[in-house]
Amino acid sequence: MKIKIIFCTAAFLLAGPAFAHSGKAIYEQTCATCHRSGVMDAPKLDDKEAWTPRLAQGRAKLIEHADYGLNAMPAHGGNDAFSEKDIEAAVDYMIEQVNGSSAKVSK
Ligand code: HEC
Repeated sequence: MKIKIIFCTAAFLLAGPAFAHSGKAIYEQTCATCHRSGVMDAPKLDDKEAWTPRLAQGRAKLIEHADYGLNAMPAHGGNDAFSEKDIEAAVDYMIEQVNGSSAKVSK
């Protein structure tokens, strides 16, 4: 019985972020494939220099490019199951990681 409860709790905790579709979860599941390693010249999340001119375009432009794609960057990160709100959350998460705060990027 106890084991079953522990298992269910663990399964819930693991599944939780996926259901919530938090920006971080979406990033980890989908966007990190390219944005962690820099595959296909994707700007790596820890590469501040690569992001500086991109952030300068403003948050709305970044979200637009994530929604509709930009060169090798696939629309919705290649996963149409994500809504525009999901993509917005993922972009906000990425901006936060690069910048420390999404608030610093002009709208
Ligand atoms: C298949 C690889 C790949 C995946 C998956 C991917 N990206 Fe990208 N992304 C790229 C590449 C390549 C670029 C650079 C495009 C360019 O500037 O030519 C890019 C650029 C971007 C940019 C900057 C756009 C700009 O205006 O400079 C944002 C924001 C972004 N990606 C967000 C995301 C988000 C959010 C996800 C997940 C939902 C995601 N990406 C998934 C490859 C990927």
